[in-house]
Amino acid sequence: MSKISSPLSTNKNISPARKLNGTLVLPADKSISHRAVMFAGLHDGQSVMDNFSSAADPHSTIACMRQLGVGISTNGNQVIVDGVGRDGLQPPAEPLNCGNSGTTMRLLSGIVGGAGISCTLTGDKSLSARTMQRIIDPLRQMGINISGRDDNFAPLNIQPHTGVNALHFQLPIASAQLKSCVLLAGLFGKESTKVIETKTSRDHTERLLQLPVDETRDEKVIKSNSSQAIPQQSYTVPGDFSAAAFWLVAAGIHSNASIRMPAVGMNPTRTGALHILQQMGADISITNKRMEGFEPVADLQASSSSLQAVDITAEIVPNCIDEIPILIIAMLFADGSSTVRGARELRHKETDRLDAMAQLLKRAGATFTEYDDGFEIVGNPNFRPQYGSFESEDDHRIAMAAAILAIMGSESSTIADANCTRISYPSFWNHLSKLTN
Ligand code: S3P
Repeated sequence: MSKISSPLSTNKNISPARKLNGTLVLPADKSISHRAVMFAGLHDGQSVMDNFSSAADPHSTIACMRQLGVGISTNGNQVIVDGVGRDGLQPPAEPLNCGNSGTTMRLLSGIVGGAGISCTLTGDKSLSARTMQRIIDPLRQMGINISGRDDNFAPLNIQPHTGVNALHFQLPIASAQLKSCVLLAGLFGKESTKVIETKTSRDHTERLLQLPVDETRDEKVIKSNSSQAIPQQSYTVPGDFSAAAFWLVAAGIHSNASIRMPAVGMNPTRTGALHILQQMGADISITNKRMEGFEPVADLQASSSSLQAVDITAEIVPNCIDEIPILIIAMLFADGSSTVRGARELRHKETDRLDAMAQLLKRAGATFTEYDDGFEIVGNPNFRPQYGSFESEDDHRIAMAAAILAIMGSESSTIADANCTRISYPSFWNHLSKLTN
């Protein structure tokens, strides 16, 4: 039986799991929760969101939107937002603290920048070390007064401007945060801002704002301007596919597993990991496909499988960017050598996730090669990680990947700084207990 130490401890002891069995109600999608509350704040009227995420990152967004004068009340997982319209935002009395959340800082900069609200955006140590130049450059080209420490890092400062210029912006990196930031600033300009995307990144912003999109085989052009109405955001937020991915992999690599997850978000720009796991031979059934508001949802059931090696290439990386740490764990237990390439963006996440995974793999005794943009992993279905004290580096997705690795060990292991799972998945450790007991 798997034993997990007290929830107050920042270290977790994880014992080998004899089984993984049960039904999990996953946390609500983090990317959608952030956008729901931001866009509802810009809508002129009330929105009611059910199943809003209880994770720390979307709650950083709620706190910032309140500081900007948006009325927000919570009732369990229901969030009621009294939007002020895009001209109703007020300058905050204190800096907007984005906590650990890159999505909060980058998307909110587009909003407050576009609105010309005088304010400062701050973040924790990890967020303050993440590059913001990618948003500073296009926002400045739009006539927005934004500055940052060393012209690259938080704190960011925004000052009023004389008008937002339309920008025709070819996305230099497949980043939904950057795309969304520019489109949100574009909502405050008279002429249309156009974002041109050649590699598909998550499309929640264009869906939830119902922005006009012209799509050809090679590119997608998304437009925003000040005459577009901002729709009400009343819907049930789907379960987070990025949370489901940990259990899809856990079930696939464990010999006695059956995990059911109802109402998981199935947006095709998010489910790259599902297709990769299916290509590896994972036994995953998808039923009850339906729409929740603007987003597709389905019920998932994952069972023990015999996984084969796979190659993850640059084209699919944006659609599984947050799942690569856990896909690397799947590769460890697959038959043959797998590769991930074109994933350099992972070095700019909450931690340098390629480096954090290399440390984890080293401690587990895995055979692998690290590249500047990925890994080659030598898999073995009978692999048993060495007992270890695994570092999470205070990064939620590394902590959860380490936990799935640890349940496959022949002795118990420790995960350091395990409480960071609260950033995206506060019930993760309870769910692990539920499946293993
Ligand atoms: C997110 C986009 C991705 C992802 C992050 C959430 C979003 O970042 O890694 O966890 O909600 O837009 P990038 O757009 O920077 O790749």
